[in-house]
Amino acid sequence: MMKKMLVLLAAAMFSLESMADEGMWLPSLISSRIKEMRSKGFRLTAKDIYDINKASLKDAVVLFGGGCTGELVSAEGLLLTNHHCGYDAIQRLSSVEHDYLTYGFWAMSRAEELPCEGLTVSFLVRMEDVTGRLAAGEERKAIIDAAAAEGKGYYASIEDMYYGNQQFLFVYRRFSDVRLVGTPPSSIGKFGGDTDNWIWPRHTGDFSVFRVYAGKDNQPAAYSPDNVPYKPARHLPVSTKGVGEGDFTMIYGFPGNTQEYVISDAVDYIANVSDPMKIALRTKRLDIISAAQASDPKLRIQYAAKHAAVANAWKKWQGEVLGIKRLGTVDKKRDYERRFAAWAADKPQYAGLLDSMRAAYARQEENYYLYELYAETLMPLELPQMAERALKGQGSNTMARYYKDFDLETDRALAKAMLAEFEKRVPDGRMPQALAERIERHGSTDAYIDYIYDNSLAGSEESVAGITADDPAADFRKVVTDNYPREYRARNLSDLKDIKRWYGPYLKALMEWDKERPFYPDANLTLRVAYGSVAGYEYADGEYHRCNTTLEGIIAKDNPEIYDYDVPQALRDAWAAKDYGRWGVELNGHMSVPVCFLATNHTSGGNSGSPIINGRGELVGINFDRTWRSTMSDVEFDPEKCRNISVDIRYVLFVIDRIGGASYLLDEMTLR
Ligand code: ARG
Ligand code: GLU
Repeated sequence: MMKKMLVLLAAAMFSLESMADEGMWLPSLISSRIKEMRSKGFRLTAKDIYDINKASLKDAVVLFGGGCTGELVSAEGLLLTNHHCGYDAIQRLSSVEHDYLTYGFWAMSRAEELPCEGLTVSFLVRMEDVTGRLAAGEERKAIIDAAAAEGKGYYASIEDMYYGNQQFLFVYRRFSDVRLVGTPPSSIGKFGGDTDNWIWPRHTGDFSVFRVYAGKDNQPAAYSPDNVPYKPARHLPVSTKGVGEGDFTMIYGFPGNTQEYVISDAVDYIANVSDPMKIALRTKRLDIISAAQASDPKLRIQYAAKHAAVANAWKKWQGEVLGIKRLGTVDKKRDYERRFAAWAADKPQYAGLLDSMRAAYARQEENYYLYELYAETLMPLELPQMAERALKGQGSNTMARYYKDFDLETDRALAKAMLAEFEKRVPDGRMPQALAERIERHGSTDAYIDYIYDNSLAGSEESVAGITADDPAADFRKVVTDNYPREYRARNLSDLKDIKRWYGPYLKALMEWDKERPFYPDANLTLRVAYGSVAGYEYADGEYHRCNTTLEGIIAKDNPEIYDYDVPQALRDAWAAKDYGRWGVELNGHMSVPVCFLATNHTSGGNSGSPIINGRGELVGINFDRTWRSTMSDVEFDPEKCRNISVDIRYVLFVIDRIGGASYLLDEMTLR
């Protein structure tokens, strides 16, 4: 009896809790949430957030590169995003002589801004529910092509919401002349490095500054010295007042990928099979990359972005496994599914759904595992990729860019480790014969890799041009890509071949059954709004984490011996002299500079660089991370514990002004 009551209680709490600040909402439908947002302190209207007839906040938000968010903060195209979002661009512009990663960079005039080849930003022009048009027989491609023809630099896509129960057209305008204006040194922008990543308390000044350029007609244009700063329809005013516990916050950006509605079998696979495998493989890769980086300053720069990328998900997955176990997500979902099945039992269209889904997971799990194994071991190896690119006739500029950050011996070590792991972990009967033969011929995985790395013309930029299809690295790449199970590739566990199709009806059924639950579409790198408030949380029994950090914490972590905690001298000096100018405030009991803050906004990867906006529509921070207790929120959001981490805009202004000496940039912002 007691047990039954506890289960019921837990179930009730599950649905109640998800009423809190969970949810990533489509901006064009935000009017349905406005009442709640206003009750939490939002002062503007739905049309201020999204409007197709007038400038609205959406016109100040961009998709930055392939998977981050940025925001416009001046009438002259000035853009803020995270340091880690600009990282690739900053690294590409860096060399041992001009090491902008280590020392930072500040353009002192427009002429000094650095063009970033290949970097683009995209504005959402409009979105439209096209479910009806598609159902009426209009062709997908025709809708997309017509939208893309509407203007210069336009492109469009149709994305499923609620697993295909709804389809939306998204029309974007892409700008490809984007220039680096400034970045703090890594000792600010990546302060705490991978050690502090996904962790609170946090002291990272994770921001960088770019400018969007356009042709003289203010339209997208390829890079040209004649281009002029883009005049956005809207830019965000910046609040210099700051935020404190309880203040309303909203985040506007491009979350990439969540899977909140997957069934228990999928969560079980994530926590007990997939994440553990990927963590183990990446531990091996990181050990090799870190050792190389420690051995040589050139390698440290060459592998900096790769290390950060590999380490980021590696660490997140560790937190995710802990979070899923702590929340008991698998058991909670099993219980939820049991109750759903009882409801569905007498509804013929839904009765067999869960069984079909379970059977499909049982059929597909090994296939997906195999796809993930390739993706984490053989596919990322760079020498074979170089060979493939050269054979495909990639231009010498592109090739040069890859070689700039390539080290044959580091890649050889990675290849040895990853081929051995692949051989060890590949499911019975799934080892490609062509690969087995080659390993066999050379005697061992190591000997085969040595043969490839000793003999391939792709080993250097000078020799690669002479490459032919029988080059050993090209041959290896072909064997790998021929056998790579791309048909099982999926963005997450709701998207697997043969399973995906069940989720549409499943979600439809859930919506009919679970009327209290606020359903929002899973993140899919389309523009979303999430809202909440600035808040601390209880990290562990008796251990409360405050919602903000200050410069004091940076100084407390200062350690010149440790790369990630070597505070720049300029910050030490400012602290010693208490020389904060207008940026000093009384916080946490002392006069200091605010650095980062926590809020309850529901975010995901892709929300990096997203503006955190207060109730009056002003920029108060830039989102860059979640806490260790939040890493499972792509699977289950826990409103009690989940917090996103932002860099306080006052710290951004302080660093630009007092550390970067680029106070002229503040003049073009709208400071309030
Ligand atoms: N965890 C943040 C995100 O998911 C920041 C990643 C970059 N920082 C790093 N130290 N690797 O992207
Ligand atoms: N750092 C993440 C990103 O690059 C955002 C934080 C998160 O995943 O919550 O998108």
